[in-house]
Amino acid sequence: MRRRESVNGCGDERMLHRLVPHVRSILPRPRNLGQCARMTMILKDARLLSEGGGLRFSAIVNGVQRDAFVVRFRGELFAYVNTCRHQSLALDFGDARFFDEAFDAIVCCQHGARYRPETGECFAGPCLGARLTPLAVAVRDGAIWWVPPGRSP
Ligand code: FES
Repeated sequence: MRRRESVNGCGDERMLHRLVPHVRSILPRPRNLGQCARMTMILKDARLLSEGGGLRFSAIVNGVQRDAFVVRFRGELFAYVNTCRHQSLALDFGDARFFDEAFDAIVCCQHGARYRPETGECFAGPCLGARLTPLAVAVRDGAIWWVPPGRSP
């Protein structure tokens, strides 16, 4: 008997479906990285991210892995891609410090662009009016999770 060659390297899907009727529910259906992305734990204990604190993590945005960060501002969590809208450089020096002493803005350490923590809009600096790319985060079971687009927390 001639064995059917697999096109995608995953074996004969038709045979697999016959053997395991519910296989559709267990087989991944990768289309692009964004759709495959799962919720990712950023911090196991959300309480460890104190007011004004920041944390860097990686997120997949439009199929590309990007540096990202989450901050706690006035008790709420806000997350963005860690790329300034001025020159596409990281906002911090790698130390996850995103606020200055005034604590009224996310501040780019490169040339001082100031972004509103709640919206990511630049209200002062060289990229006035531009916005950081927002990311969804959620607290579940006491942990902070990055929630990819199309996923619900
Ligand atoms: S790179 Fe951020 S203000 Fe210039």
